[in-house]
Amino acid sequence: MGTGNGREKWATKIGLILAMAGNAIGLGNFLRFPVQAAENGGGAFMIPYLIALIFIGIPLMWVEWAMGRYGGSVLGHGTTPGIFYEMTGRKRWAKILGAIGLWIPMVVSIYYIYVESWTLGYAIKFAIGMVPKVKASAGSSQAEYLKPFKEFLNTYLGVNGNFFKPTFAYAVFLLTFAINYYILFRGVVRGIEAFAKKAMPLLYIMAVILLVRVFLLKTPNGDAVQGLGFLWTPDFEALKKPDVWIAAAGQVFFTLSLGFSAIVAYASYIDRDDDIVLSGLTTTSLNEFAEVILGGSIAIPAAVAFFGVAGTVSIAKSGAFNLGFVSLPAIFVNTPGGMFFGFLWFFLLFFAGLTSSIAITQPFITFLQDDFGFSRKKAVTFTMLLIFVVVQFVIFIPGVLDEMDFWAGTIGLVVFALIEIVIFFWIFGADRAWEEMNRGGVFGIPRFFYYITKYITPVFLGILLAVWGIQYIPKFIANFKWQVLLARGIMTALFALFAYMALKSNSKGEVHK
Ligand code: ALA
Repeated sequence: MGTGNGREKWATKIGLILAMAGNAIGLGNFLRFPVQAAENGGGAFMIPYLIALIFIGIPLMWVEWAMGRYGGSVLGHGTTPGIFYEMTGRKRWAKILGAIGLWIPMVVSIYYIYVESWTLGYAIKFAIGMVPKVKASAGSSQAEYLKPFKEFLNTYLGVNGNFFKPTFAYAVFLLTFAINYYILFRGVVRGIEAFAKKAMPLLYIMAVILLVRVFLLKTPNGDAVQGLGFLWTPDFEALKKPDVWIAAAGQVFFTLSLGFSAIVAYASYIDRDDDIVLSGLTTTSLNEFAEVILGGSIAIPAAVAFFGVAGTVSIAKSGAFNLGFVSLPAIFVNTPGGMFFGFLWFFLLFFAGLTSSIAITQPFITFLQDDFGFSRKKAVTFTMLLIFVVVQFVIFIPGVLDEMDFWAGTIGLVVFALIEIVIFFWIFGADRAWEEMNRGGVFGIPRFFYYITKYITPVFLGILLAVWGIQYIPKFIANFKWQVLLARGIMTALFALFAYMALKSNSKGEVHK
């Protein structure tokens, strides 16, 4: 395989598809989606979600595949500083915009690997039976069920502010970090592709086993089917609420890994004439199956069976991690085979997280290889060192994670996606972009997507940003706690570094093995 420019290429089609599916399927599908759906009214959330999927998610998926393939196979650049530079007719400002496409995945990767480490820590705790085994008595209140597991989570995360005390959580973080390092160090084919081929089928199997278990749950408070009813009963009134639209679109971005440069970087390792139409659609479908069918049928139905719809909504609203890390352990411990199913739940999360964290760490590695001529090993080591230094702030200073998640993992994705569309469809040119998207396609993309991508997607994103800007950004900016300022300082420093590097990078595109 290969086009002759010497960059690595995915070895097999199935490997590429599974790696891309692993890129998309992550903590977003099994942890973030249920919380977003429950917080935003269940069925009320699903209509804006599906609309955002069609009008933003699918077009952007093709756009990112096309930009990546063009970048990798024609320009020798798998990341946006080089791609934007060439697509704008070699404008230096385009490299700075492209640096956002290095900054977002790096910032997200920094906190994502840390959260991923909790899932491994919990999986180990369940495997060795080191979790609270307090069975709630019949008629226990929701608070009684959850209390020991809230304390358990707080103790686990007690690593915060405890720099000199070695903890289990920190050791597991180091292990998680080392696993990410190892896979990336082995490279695209021997690391990422080889791992995805094993991990992804296993991930689906684990999710299906959990789904079956959850469907059998029934208590005097409810059953799993009521949870599905909550998720799948549409509520058209919610279409009038901007909050629900924003949450739904934000979820589509996060879950599909759009705006992260992660799809672009992976797509840069395919051949010039390989299909991306069907492949992009397959990635999206595999992710959506894992999200709305599997992800939607585990956490919410399980919680509804135990705590009813109102109880589940209140858990989701009480904190992003409470549904997955507090209520599910409580439920499993109180049901037969709980240790096994608890282990399975967290191991599933770990696999889902791992196949995504390597994907969002890859863009910076690709950049160092393409634009600075680093060897793969040197690029991986440099990238992981940077992550290792910055993640210490996330681990030891509460509040840093949320701030990073807001700017990079929420707003940043939408801003960057808008930039991508404008550069690809409006500066590079809609007809050339359309040709790139369709090139080598197993079938042609229906023409109406041309108009959606050119007009509707950017307008949709623009409106989203305007509403977001007015509603949330002032509230977020007005937080001047030192932890928050520190997080902003770190993020600004990272951006300055990446923008500087982008400007200094080799515009020609490095040829590397
Ligand atoms: N797409 C990845 C996820 O869903 C980042 O977690």
